[in-house]
Amino acid sequence: MITASAPGKVYLFGEHAVVYGEPAVPCAIERRATVTVEERSDGRLRVHAEDLSLDGFTVEYSSDGETPDVDVSPDLVEAAIGYVDAAVTQARDAADASDVGFDITVDSEIPLGAGLGSSAAVVVAGIDAATRELGVELSVEEIAERAYRAEYEVQEGQASRADTFCSATGGAVRVEGDDCRSIDAPDLPFVIGFDGGAGNTGRLVAGVRDLRERYPFAADTVSTIGDLVRQGERTLTEATGSDPNAGPDVVEELGTLMDFNHGLLSALGVSSRSLDRMVWAARDAGAHGAKLTGAGGGGCIVALDPTDETETALRFTPGCEAGFRAALDTEGVCVE
Ligand code: PMV
Repeated sequence: MITASAPGKVYLFGEHAVVYGEPAVPCAIERRATVTVEERSDGRLRVHAEDLSLDGFTVEYSSDGETPDVDVSPDLVEAAIGYVDAAVTQARDAADASDVGFDITVDSEIPLGAGLGSSAAVVVAGIDAATRELGVELSVEEIAERAYRAEYEVQEGQASRADTFCSATGGAVRVEGDDCRSIDAPDLPFVIGFDGGAGNTGRLVAGVRDLRERYPFAADTVSTIGDLVRQGERTLTEATGSDPNAGPDVVEELGTLMDFNHGLLSALGVSSRSLDRMVWAARDAGAHGAKLTGAGGGGCIVALDPTDETETALRFTPGCEAGFRAALDTEGVCVE
């Protein structure tokens, strides 16, 4: 039996613009998904999911097309086991063991579908645990690549490499097209607000595409996000060159850029009332900056605040279901 875990992520900068070839900087956060895998002899899969910000469930099925027989909504089962299934397919392929079955338990501290990379973390940890259980040890790069393929398959081609690469490597990452690399970043005081909901990524991405095609100034807004990300990267590089702990000037400047980034995302139509409310609650509480993270429409915001003020303010903000601190996690996928 093997247990592996992998972190979720926030976008420090650059979501949506990354779809059009601009750079983006996702950062892994100290909220992890944990997957335990044990080989079984009958070729069947048994998936037990706990604490996924939804009711836990257990489902047992085989890979011969048989419909799972469980007492929860089919959508819920499909969404949750789709990713586990795709991870198992990748692990079987990597270990050249197409018929092997597993008992799989998933435990996650990352809200589902809220812009924090929950599915990527489950897929990354699942591939690592399942291959190790079969005696195969993949490199972090191969786990990232296989996790990307798994997400690509489940999301029917609508997946970027950002979430899976960031979850596999940990730390801060720079993504531009297919080019993903780790970058140095100081320890950043992230605080997250979650409105309990989720946006529809496909619809939000399509909305930005329409605006960009219709108005040259919307296209300019997307490239301005790219300029902002490049500025943010320079700030990170200068910061880590001198001191591993982000000084007040660095956090201040990154916060200013985050505020700007949120404004541009809002202009592109991907914020929401609850996200804006949490962003303003964070700013009013003294955060250095705050923005939505991920596709938007609902879900999470990320703020920078080394004090407890933002976390406390978020807890009392109407429409905010949870406010929590989640520092940059430099540890990617690992065995527990
Ligand atoms: O909400 P998330 O974490 O899946 O992020 C979506 C990020 C987008 O840039 C909007 C889309 C993408 O695939 O990059």
